[in-house]
Amino acid sequence: MGRVLVTRRLPDGGLDPLAGHELIGPNADDSPFSHHELVAHAGEVDAIVSVLTDKIDADVLAAGAAGGRLRVVANVAVGYDNIDVRVARERGVVVCNTPGVLDETTADLAFTLILAASRLAHEAEADLRGDRWKGWGITQYLGRDVHGATLGIVGYGRIGRAVARRAAGFDMRVLHHARGNTGDTGYLADLDELLATSDIVSLHVPGGETTHHLIDARRLALMKPTGVLVNTARGSVVDEAALAGALHEGRLFAAGVDVFEREPAVHPRLLDAPRAVLLPHIGSASHATRTRMAALAASAVVTVLNGGMPPNVVPS
Ligand code: GLV
Repeated sequence: MGRVLVTRRLPDGGLDPLAGHELIGPNADDSPFSHHELVAHAGEVDAIVSVLTDKIDADVLAAGAAGGRLRVVANVAVGYDNIDVRVARERGVVVCNTPGVLDETTADLAFTLILAASRLAHEAEADLRGDRWKGWGITQYLGRDVHGATLGIVGYGRIGRAVARRAAGFDMRVLHHARGNTGDTGYLADLDELLATSDIVSLHVPGGETTHHLIDARRLALMKPTGVLVNTARGSVVDEAALAGALHEGRLFAAGVDVFEREPAVHPRLLDAPRAVLLPHIGSASHATRTRMAALAASAVVTVLNGGMPPNVVPS
């Protein structure tokens, strides 16, 4: 039996694997723990079940080491750019994430944004609700066709591939770019070529230093002016100000964005950019998937506390 800090409220049933362990948190009002509180708790627990908004940095991990108990941090997310994995390894703390259980749900959301942004669903609906729609018109809300378009997928892991499977049903031509040659049809070694060739670009790379502003002003300028950019990966992958500029200046047709550089803040120029569908980081937010994610993280904690090594330890 261990003592486990659970930083946020999780879906019902998600913590079942931790039955019998002593749980600390979440706060009664589900407010996030401050950095100071995370540091304080880290010194007195064996495990932390964290979410992507918790910064598990060197201070938190040092406090865990000083307390002499902390053995595992299980992030209820596939991404783990909120955790200093290198320091965790140095401190002997195992870091786990939740791969595999959210691919289809996140791919569904990417496709939601591909469709909504390409077909101007958000602008059209906003006009209807705002009483600005004065009747059907043959030249109104002319979007871009998704069927038959060329889709460029950046990052070809599990989620990127799940998006590609959906695209097949829309008769799309699918290209993809990844760091190494995937050997699969549609692989392009040159990201710039993929951006220039695609009608729609969907991002599926992890966050972190190596992908920071991967899509910057120069690369946005490579995209077709009729192009659509969709980001369900991490906000840091796209230069948000540059994206806003491209939309305002009509250098890009539309964008669908679920993740932002400084969540929950959104760049003001992006908030008022035309043809931008903006969602509050809901990629994996289905009841079933979020429950599976929580249970996977909780099971990993139990495995480590029992002296084992779970399959979902993040690569370091
Ligand atoms: C969500 O963004 C995740 O990383 O799971």
